[in-house]
Amino acid sequence: MGNGIAQVAARAGFPVVMRDVGEDLLGRGMTAIDKSLQRDVDKERLTAEAKQAIFERIRPTTDLSDLREAFLIVEAVTEDVQVKTEVFRTLDRIAKADAILASNTSSISITRLGAATERPDKVIGMHFMNPVPVMKLVEIIRGAATSDETYQQIHCLTEKLGKVPLECNDSPGFISNRVLMPMINEAIFALYEGVASRESIDGIMKLGMNHPMGPLTLADFIGLDVCLAIMNVLHDGFGDSKYRPCPLLKRYVDAGWLGRKSGRGFYEY
Ligand SMILES: NC(=O)c1ccc[n+]([C@@H]2O[C@H](COP(=O)([O-])OP(=O)(O)OC[C@H]3O[C@@H](n4cnc5c(N)ncnc54)[C@H](O)[C@@H]3O)[C@@H](O)[C@H]2O)c1
Repeated sequence: MGNGIAQVAARAGFPVVMRDVGEDLLGRGMTAIDKSLQRDVDKERLTAEAKQAIFERIRPTTDLSDLREAFLIVEAVTEDVQVKTEVFRTLDRIAKADAILASNTSSISITRLGAATERPDKVIGMHFMNPVPVMKLVEIIRGAATSDETYQQIHCLTEKLGKVPLECNDSPGFISNRVLMPMINEAIFALYEGVASRESIDGIMKLGMNHPMGPLTLADFIGLDVCLAIMNVLHDGFGDSKYRPCPLLKRYVDAGWLGRKSGRGFYEY
């Protein structure tokens, strides 16, 4: 997600610093950006010169202090409240006083991330969809302390990125994953209970509901670890057993079968 967000911002003309914890991870991110832009060059939607210019606007780094001059930092680290809270604490120390800190979290409380900083008025959710260069929506989440000024700036910036901002209050899973993830979890339960095969479940939802991909294929695409993390946030946040993650989802994550990114999930890649 991080490399997708970097690509979209650079394509809109912004200079971007992309930070990850290791050179290998950064290398993988830059390769993903290169491949994605090359697809557009091949389809003649982008010139080779424009691709080069976009690429050059992105500076990969492992050094956090390179983010010091940013007016906006979009966090897209692992979906874990402890990890994200620590990242927000650190970003608050190093970012400019007037910088906005946004999170691409799929489900974690923006209010809680804001409270880890001294600038909760400048903390906001910018939930991009996957794949970022293709998907139009950015779900914008206001934390309890997010100011109107921060909201307006992010709304405006999202439009400059060529995306459609839609507003939502802070609540577990926001709108997108509160509605989507229980459907995916239910599809996994149906597979677990032997109600139908993976192909039937996906085919029924694809052809019957006109969804572009079936829920199990979509879970593999999102990442089963991310799906499990989101179900846990819904379960903890609402305290309602209807959000309990399916044991089969837990078992796959325990096995390291995380979907597309690990080569195996509900399908093999
Ligand atoms: N996968 C999706 O479809 C999707 C969609 C929308 C939002 N999101 C959200 O985006 C975020 C990232 O998801 P992803 O699927 O890209 O996960 P991922 O596991 O593919 O990538 C996470 C990246 O964060 C890096 N990272 C971990 N800790 C870090 C730290 N302390 N500092 C800097 N980098 C760190 C990792 O090295 C890795 O490159 C999550 O919050 C997730 O919920 C995911």
